[in-house]
Amino acid sequence: MGSYAVTGSASGMGQQAALKLRAAGHTVIGVDLADAEVVADLSTPAGRAAAAQEVLAAAGDRLDGAVLAAGVGPTPGPGRARTIFQVNYFGVVDLLEAWRPALARAADGGPSAKVVVISSNSTTTIPLVPRRAVRALLAGDAERAVRAVRLFGAEAPSIAYGGSKIAVSRWVRRRAVTPDWAGAGVRLNALAPGAIMTPLLQKQLATPKEAKAIRAFPVPVGGFGAPDQLGDWMVFMLSDAADFLCGSVIFVDGGSDAYFRADDWPARPSLAGTPRYFWRFARAALRNR
Ligand code: NAI
Repeated sequence: MGSYAVTGSASGMGQQAALKLRAAGHTVIGVDLADAEVVADLSTPAGRAAAAQEVLAAAGDRLDGAVLAAGVGPTPGPGRARTIFQVNYFGVVDLLEAWRPALARAADGGPSAKVVVISSNSTTTIPLVPRRAVRALLAGDAERAVRAVRLFGAEAPSIAYGGSKIAVSRWVRRRAVTPDWAGAGVRLNALAPGAIMTPLLQKQLATPKEAKAIRAFPVPVGGFGAPDQLGDWMVFMLSDAADFLCGSVIFVDGGSDAYFRADDWPARPSLAGTPRYFWRFARAALRNR
């Protein structure tokens, strides 16, 4: 049985993942603002550093996997964009950077360690997220990201939310394939849910204006997703069956992403900066036409 860190373990999808892992006999070290093994505020660098260290101490510096589900939704409020960036982006990457050696240790000589980051289908369904905000987050500059979204209004929570999830998904894809992660036996993937009936969504539905926008959003299969089902997806992505999954973003969103972007996939690989093996592969493919 393994040791797993789960952020956002006190509610919603993180809670479901924690319940299911425990039911399967694993040890879970939950991280949340309250009702968790490690109580920490991931919106501050000090809170993130303390959470990272406390989890490592509880796990004996060895983690078989992690679920990064702590997050705040796109509800309006003062300072909201900054909080969204701090929790949804830095609350994932700072912890994972601190936990990577413990994950690699668990994977050494055994099955791969697995990490699931909760992204969102906001990555592909919210228009106009400024690239500058995403670039600023990936460069570690939260204040520049806040300035980039201010163009869209004082707080622009939806734009900030979409930006935080694009940045964290891109971070996952960039890191997942490197020697430090794939090469060290640590599988890093993201799950991109659509609207799932958790307290986060309930809070949004409690505001008439937001509720109207959410209910008007096209979901081909209809309705909302169940947190319990998303918990099953996470447990699957942590299992041995997911050994060959690396750098993927799995959409579980009732079809909204496909509805908006059926023909956007696949995007052509960019040729700029493409490694030499790609050209070798392209030449071989042309010869075999
Ligand atoms: P939730 O509100 O039920 O759970 C989120 C958890 O994160 C809560 O327990 C909360 O206390 C914790 N959290 C928030 N701020 C924190 C902080 N500063 N420090 C420590 N913990 C903190 O929400 P839900 O829906 O389960 O969300 C889980 C993840 O899924 C989030 O990253 C969210 O952005 C994402 N998501 C949610 C969707 C939905 O429709 N519910 C859709 C797509 C993505």
